[in-house]
Amino acid sequence: QTTLRDSADAIGKDIGVAVDVNKLQNDASYRNLVATEFNSLTAENAMKWNATEPSQGQFTFAGGDAIVDFAQQNDQSVHGHTLVWHSQTPSWVQNLSAAQMQSAMQNHITTVMDHYEGDVATWDVVNEVVSDSNGALRDSFWLQRLGEGYIAQAFQYARAADPNADLYINDYSIEAIGAKSDRIYTIAQGLANQDLVDGVGLQSHLILGQVPSTMEANLQRFVDLGLKVRITELDIRIPMPADGNELAQQKADFQRVTELCADLVDCSGVTVWGLRDVDSWVPDVFPGEGAPLLFDDNYNPKPAYDGVLAAL
Ligand code: XIL
Repeated sequence: QTTLRDSADAIGKDIGVAVDVNKLQNDASYRNLVATEFNSLTAENAMKWNATEPSQGQFTFAGGDAIVDFAQQNDQSVHGHTLVWHSQTPSWVQNLSAAQMQSAMQNHITTVMDHYEGDVATWDVVNEVVSDSNGALRDSFWLQRLGEGYIAQAFQYARAADPNADLYINDYSIEAIGAKSDRIYTIAQGLANQDLVDGVGLQSHLILGQVPSTMEANLQRFVDLGLKVRITELDIRIPMPADGNELAQQKADFQRVTELCADLVDCSGVTVWGLRDVDSWVPDVFPGEGAPLLFDDNYNPKPAYDGVLAAL
């Protein structure tokens, strides 16, 4: 009886899952499956700014620490998510002046990375900095207040905070070659020229049957910049209710994405964005869609699980 993590270990890849602290602490079945099937964890929410620095200068690491403790007990790595984002960031940050905002960003990056130095070796430094319209930068409070230099600045602070950490730029809808991934490519290239970035995280919140045909070439062009790639938040959503044909297609899609990573030396791994379908953020954000993960609500593996296993 093999597991995802045994198969991933054998080929030197991370197979990760986004975890919820409360479930990790209160649900033994959840805990056991996370420990058995995965060799890498991402905090679904616990390391975001609103969780780690809800008021200025007041850092709260309890949730993130619980995840790190669990990971260490189970010989798992932790992927840090995320330092600078427009979402789940307290309003006190958004209301600062430019100079104050820059120093708050430096202090946040430095304090969080220092706290987890040695325990968290990879970080999503910036998340979702490119918009969905024509590859323009996202018109966030970061951009509005600090200008586009805030991206490189964030990476400089991160590099200084933990020189041994792998630093990622992370975004969604960059799996295919297109305007948005082109912009990520350009940003990553500029950062790579200054040795400020180590990897590109492709969230991969995908729609059933729509693994992009250009995904392989897209991953390769990032690797050709000397960077790693990582599938950071994989889920594949289905119009509800899901039928057998759809679950079979989902299996094929999960297998394809995992194969793309398994076949690429510089792909560090695949993380799925939640354990069971009932744990997923998808139904809240995409009404009428769901069942996007590897396990059903009763902790049983779905066909998609076999697809991932076959690819590892
Ligand atoms: C989501 C979480 O899954 C939800 O629990 C939370 O309410 C909102 O954020 N892109 C990201 C993740 O980078 O942090 C998001 O996670 C999903 C989209």
